Amino acid sequence: MTAHAALDLRDLGLDRGGHILVLRALRELGPGRPLAVTGGHPDLGLQLSVMAREGGHSVTENTGTSPGERKTFTVVAGPALDARARGAARAGSAVHSRDHRGVSDRADERWGVAARGAMVEAGAPRWDFSLDRAEVVWTDDAKKLYAQAAAAQWDPETAIPWDAPITHPPAVEEAVVQVMTYLVENENAALLVPARFLGRIHPHYREVVQLMAIQIADEARHVEVFTRRALLRSSEMALSTAGGQRSLQTLFEETDFVLATMLLSVLGEGSFVDLLRFLHEHGPDEVTRTIADLTARDESRHVAAGMAHVRWAIEQQPQDRGRIRSAIEQRHQALQHTSGLNAEVYDALVLLAAGSFEPEDIARGFDAVQALQRRMLEGRTRRLARLGFSESEAESLAGLHTRNFM
Ligand SMILES: [Fe+2]
Ligand SMILES: [Fe+2]
Repeated sequence: MTAHAALDLRDLGLDRGGHILVLRALRELGPGRPLAVTGGHPDLGLQLSVMAREGGHSVTENTGTSPGERKTFTVVAGPALDARARGAARAGSAVHSRDHRGVSDRADERWGVAARGAMVEAGAPRWDFSLDRAEVVWTDDAKKLYAQAAAAQWDPETAIPWDAPITHPPAVEEAVVQVMTYLVENENAALLVPARFLGRIHPHYREVVQLMAIQIADEARHVEVFTRRALLRSSEMALSTAGGQRSLQTLFEETDFVLATMLLSVLGEGSFVDLLRFLHEHGPDEVTRTIADLTARDESRHVAAGMAHVRWAIEQQPQDRGRIRSAIEQRHQALQHTSGLNAEVYDALVLLAAGSFEPEDIARGFDAVQALQRRMLEGRTRRLARLGFSESEAESLAGLHTRNFM
């Protein structure tokens, strides 16, 4: 036999890390090539034979080669040193390119929660992620939108001037509490709808999962700040109506990812941005105005994410446009016998824009809320048109959106 590679473990046993050195030397040599392992650990022979049995290697004791207590063994690596030879396979590619070719069209159930690009050992369990196709969940914009969201996170404790003076009359404060009560229930729905989908999306599409997770964190913050603003001077929240909740329940019950994204983010959150900008302009105190400004910025990102998702889905499956049309019509039918926006919220918005109970001011406030509703309608029409709906269809579908705004 020719001189072969040698490893001296000294007194180190395989029970204290010696296996790392043996495996490293075997990998360097490759399968089939002998390695002489010398050491003084009393159980070395037993330990090497256990390791050889588990790893498919062979081991023999050399006689009369070492002085004293030290012994030498010849270890030859079996063919399964490499993970690939043990049946492991790559979970797709680790990086994604601009045109999604780096992510797989379909994520394998055996990849499970493994990092994208990891070697997944044979025998790993199968995971049931029902949203496992790129054509449904992917968007090239997810990575960029996630990065923007991560950079734009704000701390409610420090970003909002909670101690700013509140000098308006109690009736105006009551209007603020009513609007905040309404906002919280909408935010609860906006948090729960994506949260229900999140656990169904295959983590192979990690940028999408990250984007949705940070969006959910945004909504958690919105729930907090609207609640805190409501209770800043009041000890109680105001009214939640049956019609408002029914509208939100239809979002909650939508089980199709593309349709839920369309209804919630493109149409609902789109209109919500207009509402928050209205509150930024007409809020009677700095706390309300600051909250409205910060949440509107977050919501604009949610709308951008929704648009990116739906645009992508329609590009992959143009028939989705027809499904979207039906979903908007069906939701309209389901809600047509409900009152939509609660009258208390409407009147509260009028009062906030009026700033007083003078009839002229109330008239101005009323006009401002009417203008808000027109802006919401125009915004929905514009977004539908950008998704490829004809001008007249965009207009009629935008008009079918819930009177509850979301
Ligand atoms: Fe929100
Ligand atoms: Fe949102």
